[in-house]
Amino acid sequence: MTATPDSPRSHYPVAIVGAGALGLAFAARLAATGPVAMIARNAARAAELARGVQIGGQLRRLDVFAPNALPTADWAVLLVKTGDTDAAARLASALRPHGLLSLQNGLIEAELREACPALAAGQGVTTEGAYRDATGIHPSGAGETLLPPGFEDLAALFVRAGFVARVDPDIARARLAKLLVNLAINPLAALFRVPNGALLEPPHRVLLDTLVREALPVLRANGLDLDEGAALSRVHGVARATAANRASMLQDVLANRRTEIDAITGALLGMAETGGFEVPTHRAVHTLVRAVEHAATGTPSDR
Ligand code: PAF
Repeated sequence: MTATPDSPRSHYPVAIVGAGALGLAFAARLAATGPVAMIARNAARAAELARGVQIGGQLRRLDVFAPNALPTADWAVLLVKTGDTDAAARLASALRPHGLLSLQNGLIEAELREACPALAAGQGVTTEGAYRDATGIHPSGAGETLLPPGFEDLAALFVRAGFVARVDPDIARARLAKLLVNLAINPLAALFRVPNGALLEPPHRVLLDTLVREALPVLRANGLDLDEGAALSRVHGVARATAANRASMLQDVLANRRTEIDAITGALLGMAETGGFEVPTHRAVHTLVRAVEHAATGTPSDR
């Protein structure tokens, strides 16, 4: 369906806020079983997407909306980069949803609640992936999506669309487990410009494991009940399952965009400081990724 003046509805069961690779991959899959609104960041991007976008090798025409002409929606799903959380969450509030689900990386629930205090907002986790190249958007295949309690109806909608999805009563732990994966894989993939699978091989492997070992006591103190063997095998398992993928932080670096280093490694540094833990390798990685960003985008490396 094309977003012409007479085809879009005024109300949708679900709206995706964030038309990046993952947002578009989610929207395309949901659109196969029911109406979905795709919210773009501005009118120019909405017009570009409304002409059609290649997703998984097919030309897809989604119902795309710009911020100045929004529909309403039962549920809003936030899939923007963490640096855009505040503005996107406010935009999502204007859809007047029952609830706002973030599936972003990092730990952003506090920021989300602050941006829209009147809304039932929660952060889930997804291991779905997608990347964009010159030929379009490439969803990476099956992953798992975990939602916080209160989002049962949205979880059911995801399942109807073919996602592996469920409500996780211990979503805080699931977020820490995802953070562990992102803390280890994303900065190294971005710094060395390699696909995830290469991190399992020398010379990267020793750094990957060092990042896991260093982060673990901090994450355990915050409620992640994994021992070292389980933590290493979780990170190795994701690197293996997504071996050919470019991690999202690598995609940002290659596109000269600001990365999510502050929401990922920055979140760990904050927890380490509060708990009195030393995390020198993460500190070094944080500085290095910021330096790469600074060279590419001019973003201050000491922000
Ligand atoms: O951010 C990412 O790219 C993904 O969360 C993950 C799991 C590291 C796979 O690439």
